[in-house]
Amino acid sequence: MNHKKKHFVIAIDGPAGAGKSTVAMLVARKLGFLYVDTGAMYRALTLKALKSNIELNNKESLIEMARNTRIEIIQNENGCGILLDGEDVVKQIRTEQVSANSHFVASIPEIREILWSIQRSFRDSYDIVMEGRDIGTVVFPDAELKIYLDASPEERAKRRYLQILSQGIEANIQKIKAELLLRDERDSRRKIAPLVKHPEATVIDTTSLTIDEVVSLVLDLYKKKLAELEN
Ligand code: DC
Repeated sequence: MNHKKKHFVIAIDGPAGAGKSTVAMLVARKLGFLYVDTGAMYRALTLKALKSNIELNNKESLIEMARNTRIEIIQNENGCGILLDGEDVVKQIRTEQVSANSHFVASIPEIREILWSIQRSFRDSYDIVMEGRDIGTVVFPDAELKIYLDASPEERAKRRYLQILSQGIEANIQKIKAELLLRDERDSRRKIAPLVKHPEATVIDTTSLTIDEVVSLVLDLYKKKLAELEN
């Protein structure tokens, strides 16, 4: 008989700028769960392709590259760090160039399969909070708790704008909004694992909520689910 403890998975999906990373990191910290940012994995492969001058339209080369890449998730003081072939790339993956080009690797089924298998492997050893676009729908359709975080495009653009300004960089909010909408479109229209809400997912619209309010809502849902499972 298999006595292996089943680990708890909190899957958080939603569009860019809905607050997934901050909320997932804080919830994981509160519960002592592992926090996994799956977007960082797609970004890391994109970074490697850009650095290696691999043509982003060349699927075969991208697949070959992904098969020969080591991606590791580490926990650091800011949440989820990532090692690309042993190198800490947590800062390098956040550039606009990487954001704008991540859809190439994200739309290749063979590459998603490689990352899915890494993502699923975490559950063997940890309770996890995992965030992305397809966590509740594809990676862990049996996740104990599925959350879909959303916010209006205006609010998401404003958050991104303020974040860029706080780094002392100039930004144009209209341009940011247009780029967000383009990313939404690409994420939700993609053939493989598009961004869609799982029918069982609880939707939280974060437009007029503070981060603390969203975190408390997720923690309440977790407690409710845990009580249900224990009964
Ligand atoms: O969440 P993010 O902006 O860091 O995601 C980076 C890219 O990866 C973005 O193009 C969406 C894609 N992505 C995905 O296809 N599936 C995921 N589970 C997470 C991210």
